[in-house]
Amino acid sequence: MDISDLKLGDMKTVAWRGKPVWIINRTDKMLADVQKADNEVADPHTKNPFSMPLPKYCNNEYRSRSDHKNLFVAVAVCTHLGCTPTPRFQEGPPQPNLPDDWPGSFLCPCHGSTYDMAGRVFKNKPAPQNLDIPPYMFTSATGLVTGASMFFVASSAHVLRADVRLVSQLSASSRSFRGRCRR
Ligand code: FES
Repeated sequence: MDISDLKLGDMKTVAWRGKPVWIINRTDKMLADVQKADNEVADPHTKNPFSMPLPKYCNNEYRSRSDHKNLFVAVAVCTHLGCTPTPRFQEGPPQPNLPDDWPGSFLCPCHGSTYDMAGRVFKNKPAPQNLDIPPYMFTSATGLVTGASMFFVASSAHVLRADVRLVSQLSASSRSFRGRCRR
């Protein structure tokens, strides 16, 4: 997938191991919001990860690789019952199901969990943990890898290739998540 057109503030969704994964090009304002949210989120340093350990290279305030801190990569599976959260990047009121001081980040519409721009769940929400961060890395423009268990982003050409064998599973997985949410 070519992400050269991923403008500041935009996001794309790819599939990895049958799950939706976001790639978001965070703005400076979004990064500043992450810092501001430190006292508002339940687990600011991801001491209690969800289904996979936080990659060591993402163990920092932005939960991203430090050489591309603006690029946020996260598994879009709510840690409550598995719904897919939705981007709600517009800040402030009035917005349904969001507080008046909403900074602009993510809402899981199923039961109202909210996550900040680093995928950290806000306090006192049904979701108990932060969104997972999958393993990922940057390579050269020609360093594409297929069929790997992680996905790679070519930094100079901004080309991303996911585990393409699993892209077709995205729809089925989304249906599965919705089914779990109804239970
Ligand atoms: S599944 Fe997201 S809040 Fe319940």
